[in-house]
Amino acid sequence: MTSTEPQRHLVVGATGAQGGAVARRLLEEGHRVRGLTRSAGGHGRLPDGVEPFAGDLGDPGQARAAFAGMTHASVLLPMIYGPEQVASYVRNVADAALAAGLRRLVFNTGNRLPEAVTEVAAFETRRAAAAALLGSGVPTVVLRPPIYLDNLCAPWAAGPLVRDGVLRYPLPARSPVAWLSHGDLAAATVAALTRDGLAGTVLDLGGPDTVTGPELAAAFAAELGRRVDYVAQDPAEFEAGLAHALGAPAAAGVAATYRWVADAGETLYGVDHRAVEETLGIRLTPLRAWIAAQPWHALAGAA
Ligand SMILES: NC(=O)c1ccc[n+]([C@@H]2O[C@H](COP(=O)([O-])OP(=O)(O)OC[C@H]3O[C@@H](n4cnc5c(N)ncnc54)[C@H](OP(=O)(O)O)[C@@H]3O)[C@@H](O)[C@H]2O)c1
Repeated sequence: MTSTEPQRHLVVGATGAQGGAVARRLLEEGHRVRGLTRSAGGHGRLPDGVEPFAGDLGDPGQARAAFAGMTHASVLLPMIYGPEQVASYVRNVADAALAAGLRRLVFNTGNRLPEAVTEVAAFETRRAAAAALLGSGVPTVVLRPPIYLDNLCAPWAAGPLVRDGVLRYPLPARSPVAWLSHGDLAAATVAALTRDGLAGTVLDLGGPDTVTGPELAAAFAAELGRRVDYVAQDPAEFEAGLAHALGAPAAAGVAATYRWVADAGETLYGVDHRAVEETLGIRLTPLRAWIAAQPWHALAGAA
């Protein structure tokens, strides 16, 4: 990417937690950023400095308008898992990106993808999306994150963690996980957008510390100065809680990934973190440093 033309970045999902972190990081690095949101009400959820753009990925014309004039785009699909709907969003993204002559598109799959094909829609719709974008003619990088540390900041996790010393998560205790922060996702995405020679790369992301459930609890115990025990939550209980917040279809889609990991994929979430750092030219945040930087008591107070 040696063009001297200024970069203009579209962030799909910029009103959400992952896309918001990407948009803020792009702004910090001096880039111009447009954030896609479906409604005028979404403008208030965009980070300051992001140009709001109203549009829906499900509408080909609106997708084209959102990408028009952009040189780069970061794309994260929302929590929809119907194969036809996802495929139509991806077609609209690819068509719009080609029409805009995009120089780089970074697709965040939102999760790791098991090596072999599964029956889990959250994996397979993203596998198909990644393949479609890589084959579309748009210079694409695919990033495959593991589980986000920031999930633990949600009241349902932070409350029991701080109040009761219970770290409850729907993963088997012995599963090794390279938990990733949204901050590191953002650094990785910006590098994937702007670094030369990465088009066509598919990269598993992850933080520098791969830990089991009890090891994660021990890291929290050391930072919080109290005993913390890991409890592997039943995915059915997790799904029921999530359904209250997100609705049943999204909750079922997400919970299916945790069921698959518990049944067949306990090692899905490891990573070669040196490959991440070398490929992208970034430094990942140590687990203990990330834990130390979060306002746990305030997060728990919101529970
Ligand atoms: N690995 C993990 O630990 C983890 C954790 C959470 C989520 N995820 C995955 O990440 C993905 C996103 O989840 P999320 O929780 O980040 O979602 P979110 O916070 O609810 O954000 C969804 C974003 O997508 C936008 N959006 C939704 N429908 C759209 C459409 N039709 N056209 C254009 N934009 C649209 C929303 O914008 P507006 O509402 O402003 O229109 C919002 O910015 C999902 O695939 C999920 O499974 C993974």
